[in-house]
Amino acid sequence: MNIIDIINKTKRAVPLSDEEISYVVSGYTNGDIPDYQMSAWLMAVCLNGLNEHETVALTKAMRDSGDILDMSCINGITADKHSTGGVGDKTSFIIGPAAAACGVYVPKMSGKGLGHTGGTIDKLESISGYRTELPFEEFAGIVNKTGFSIISQSGTLCPADKKIYALRNATGTVDSIPLICASIMSKKLALNADILLLDVKCGSGAFMKTNLEARKLGDLMERVGDAAGKKCRAIVTDMDSPLGSCIGNALEVKEAIELLQGKVKGRLYDVCIELTANLLELAGKGTFGECQRMAEEAISSGRALAVLKETIELHGGDGSICDDVSLLPQPRFRHEIRASRDVEIVSVNAEELGMASLLLGAGRIQKDDAIDPTAGIVLEFEVGDKISMDAPLMTLYSTVCSDFSEAAVRAYNAITFRDLTASALT
Ligand code: URA
Repeated sequence: MNIIDIINKTKRAVPLSDEEISYVVSGYTNGDIPDYQMSAWLMAVCLNGLNEHETVALTKAMRDSGDILDMSCINGITADKHSTGGVGDKTSFIIGPAAAACGVYVPKMSGKGLGHTGGTIDKLESISGYRTELPFEEFAGIVNKTGFSIISQSGTLCPADKKIYALRNATGTVDSIPLICASIMSKKLALNADILLLDVKCGSGAFMKTNLEARKLGDLMERVGDAAGKKCRAIVTDMDSPLGSCIGNALEVKEAIELLQGKVKGRLYDVCIELTANLLELAGKGTFGECQRMAEEAISSGRALAVLKETIELHGGDGSICDDVSLLPQPRFRHEIRASRDVEIVSVNAEELGMASLLLGAGRIQKDDAIDPTAGIVLEFEVGDKISMDAPLMTLYSTVCSDFSEAAVRAYNAITFRDLTASALT
């Protein structure tokens, strides 16, 4: 077996055997296959795809490249929720505690931000003292106590994905359905929860831009999960505009807490209830309608917020942010953008807003860049709103960046307006 034959086969859309796929994954992970040959194979996959059998084999080979966790120490049914990445997506801080408050254990490992999409670990690191790296025993102990914990992806889990993902990011080979499926599912299968809920984001702020592509990825992930013996469901949710009004790390933690305090409704709340209800239904807690009511009650009663607070404290973080969000890190600089005329908001390009937030310091341009936890954007509108001249559209925040000009132009241009001034309407 050799890598040149394998590259040529995929280039000609000839299916690979399980052994050939294992050879590629283990050869690249242990350094026998160099970056340039792996890049050629990944590009061939991007252009020609893999069939379902090959995708299952790739997922399993990547899962088996490192540890597979043993969740039998958790005192009940375990569930993992994964989002394929979006802008303003803080749902993990809401769904995890809400599901835990309803009796499902949610052990979660997450990653840092990728490109324009925010990372759950970066958001958690905006909470003073919160430890994102814990030994497995401590992580499992917190899950047994509160029902919920999030830590960063352990280095011993799926080392193959870590290496392949970094190469894909640098070679324009991220947006391939079989590669995304194998990357996500290998990590989820290595975490090894009983139930897996996949939130496949679709729209301008997501990797999958159309509903057709998102459904295709969701269906494939469900079948790969089934083939590996997991109870798995994929839900497609909208990421054409950011989820909620806050983009940025501490800002998103604040919005999640405010939702759990009962102060935020709208699309973010609806998506969280839908996803939590799906997770509870998969866990056998009742019909979808019953599970929806359970999720709503977990939030309105304050029980989900109590789970989040206790979890933060067990991680060494400052739980008092759950009572007073002004204790989160505060920005040094702000810049308000107002409407220059009467307008209607027609659409928003979530990816562009994510990039504007990244320029303010909320994300990374180079992989080792430091994050500014205070940086980000707060939107004052929803798509379809009519805004009068001079009313606020959004506010940009940062501590590391005092010159807002580039981010402001990018954020403003991310919005498509309809002019409502009398002269434009005649
Ligand atoms: N998230 C992942 O973990 N992997 C991908 O390939 C895309 C999104």
